[in-house]
Amino acid sequence: MQVIKTAALLDRALDESRNAGRVGFVPTMGALHDGHLQLVAASKAACATTVVSIFVNPTQFNQSADLETYPRTPGRDVRLLEAAGCDVVFLPTVEAVYPPGLDTILGLDFGKLETVMEGAQRPGHFAGVAQVVNRLLDLVRPDALFMGQKDYQQVAIVREMLRQTGRPVELIAHPIVREADGLAMSSRNRRLSPAMRAKAPTIYASLQGAAEALGKSSVAELIETAAARMQAAGLRPEYLSVAHPTTLQPVGVFDPAEGAVLCAAAWAGDVRLIDNILVEARPPT
Ligand code: PAF
Repeated sequence: MQVIKTAALLDRALDESRNAGRVGFVPTMGALHDGHLQLVAASKAACATTVVSIFVNPTQFNQSADLETYPRTPGRDVRLLEAAGCDVVFLPTVEAVYPPGLDTILGLDFGKLETVMEGAQRPGHFAGVAQVVNRLLDLVRPDALFMGQKDYQQVAIVREMLRQTGRPVELIAHPIVREADGLAMSSRNRRLSPAMRAKAPTIYASLQGAAEALGKSSVAELIETAAARMQAAGLRPEYLSVAHPTTLQPVGVFDPAEGAVLCAAAWAGDVRLIDNILVEARPPT
């Protein structure tokens, strides 16, 4: 496995790999967990070469405290990637991703996709995500891009970015990977205190309860019940949404033929976690 820090060395390393077959790319911010490693496995299964980037992107953090406390474990990450059979780890500096003088701001309009949920709560977040993913795609030039569905809205934004920029990259969204107690794997989980770690699985349990109530209770009622359950467990829900799986707009009345995605953000102490459950569209019988 090669560990590479500059764009020039990355180019050189990938020059030959491109002739060997498809290049798969897994962008990460490090503090890797099994969810990331499953993306690596998916890329290895589909591509001849797998590149993983580790870059804590400053432009997607709307709060400096969040950027400062974001977990960083580069040594452990590199060891995990080596064991997972990754071919190239790209560990760029901020200057390599955003060279002074290079305009990397995309300025795309994601319309209503970014005015809800994470986009509404974290102004500028998705402009930063689109900027860094676009820039990393410029540097890695992969055939396939692997991302986790825990960040459901992020995947939707990146899909829209690829559509608008016309990049010929296949986007593969991988299902959420969970701990045994249901908590969605996240780099932020390592910041949870033991007490909050014990409470955090209630986010998923509440979403599961809401998903089971779809079509039985009204959407407003099931959202209220899920929020109350999180609060009773000592969590602070920030938003809960039953949304259309493609447009991400809130759904007033659940239509099984359209499906829905149930999304939540909640605070466990000072750690903000997100999770979701996708209820696939069921064709009318
Ligand atoms: O999901 C993440 O870890 C980040 O948002 C990403 C896609 C690596 C961009 O910085």
